[in-house]
Amino acid sequence: MTTPRIGVIGGGQLARMLFGAALDLDLAISFLVRPGDEGIVGQAANVTVDELNLASLERFASQVDILTFEHELTPVDALKELEQRGICLRPSADTMAIAANKLAQRELFQRLKLPIPRFVKLNADTVFELPCIAKAIAGGYDGRGVRWINEPAELDTLVVSDTPWLLEELLEVDTEIAVLTVSTPEGDITTYPPVRTIQRDGICVEVQWPSGATDELEGRARAIATAIARELAYVGVLAVEFFVVAGKLYVNEIAPRVHNSGHMTIEAASTSQFENHLRAIAGLPLGPTNFTTPATMVNLLGKLGPLEAYEPPPNTRLHLYGKEGRPERKVGHVTATAATVAEAAQLAHRARDKICIHE
Ligand SMILES: Nc1ncnc2c1ncn2[C@@H]1O[C@H](COP(=O)(O)OP(=O)(O)OP(=O)(O)O)[C@@H](O)[C@H]1O
Ligand SMILES: [Mg+2]
Repeated sequence: MTTPRIGVIGGGQLARMLFGAALDLDLAISFLVRPGDEGIVGQAANVTVDELNLASLERFASQVDILTFEHELTPVDALKELEQRGICLRPSADTMAIAANKLAQRELFQRLKLPIPRFVKLNADTVFELPCIAKAIAGGYDGRGVRWINEPAELDTLVVSDTPWLLEELLEVDTEIAVLTVSTPEGDITTYPPVRTIQRDGICVEVQWPSGATDELEGRARAIATAIARELAYVGVLAVEFFVVAGKLYVNEIAPRVHNSGHMTIEAASTSQFENHLRAIAGLPLGPTNFTTPATMVNLLGKLGPLEAYEPPPNTRLHLYGKEGRPERKVGHVTATAATVAEAAQLAHRARDKICIHE
């Protein structure tokens, strides 16, 4: 049997790390990247730069056996059309349609009777308690579609904006955790151990394992993530984000792809999320998902100093994304491993402080 050729839609840091895993597995992989996107361009051989429309997607799909995704920005109608023409999408067009729309995600969670924060779609006459959180229904990422709302007047601009918004109850979040599931085409589903994610201004800044949550809470999170993957007949890696509030779990959102919460699986787990995503979509046997060491990953945001001036602390590994530095932009990450998560966090922070430029 020859392994299938994989086509990735998207070309940022997730594509770069998928590329690394594809090299190790000797899988043929190519990328369809929007003009101006940074990350994989110039680093991998098989990169097509084009807008994302049916014609470009068809051309790209004709060169590969399986399409997969690095972001949720592909027009859903085009994906459905490709699928109808017999092209293999993993995950499916229906799943991408749900994942790209925060209202559709919430309908899925309600159908599965999962605990979620109260929410309403925002209209001119919406009444909802403040303070609350406003979320762009589509197109948001890295906190860019999330607003903290204190005054009714702050909703005025959102009501008249071109894109739809929803309002959500502001939870007093104690911690956040995330679970990665990996699903095979045969419907076997496995999970990585939950990790703790730490956000600042809606952006993920740090991830830790162990998560610090109780076994019971972790078990419930894994069961919920598995139920979502099963309902979607998912194939590949799916990320599920949770809030923990007074010992209770709420589902926040899903991401139909490899995820920031899983970057440290490269150094700290038996099999990285990137390798297991490729294995899953290619129909190869999955690797074990256990962590082998406590670890902390910190995102590098904004601007970085010169590599020449950076001396890596021990047991840390730097990943640069080839992106120009801009405020609050993820341009790299560092993973540190140690005997305890506290020590790993200390090492990762030390690395971050050495390379990030604070302006
Ligand atoms: N209802 C809420 N109550 C309290 N905090 C919230 C709520 N919703 C979101 N947040 C905070 O904002 C962060 C980002 O929210 P969310 O995950 O919906 O946005 P996103 O931009 O889609 O995320 P991502 O960075 O994962 O792409 C959450 O991780 C959490 O820290
Ligand atoms: Mg999120």
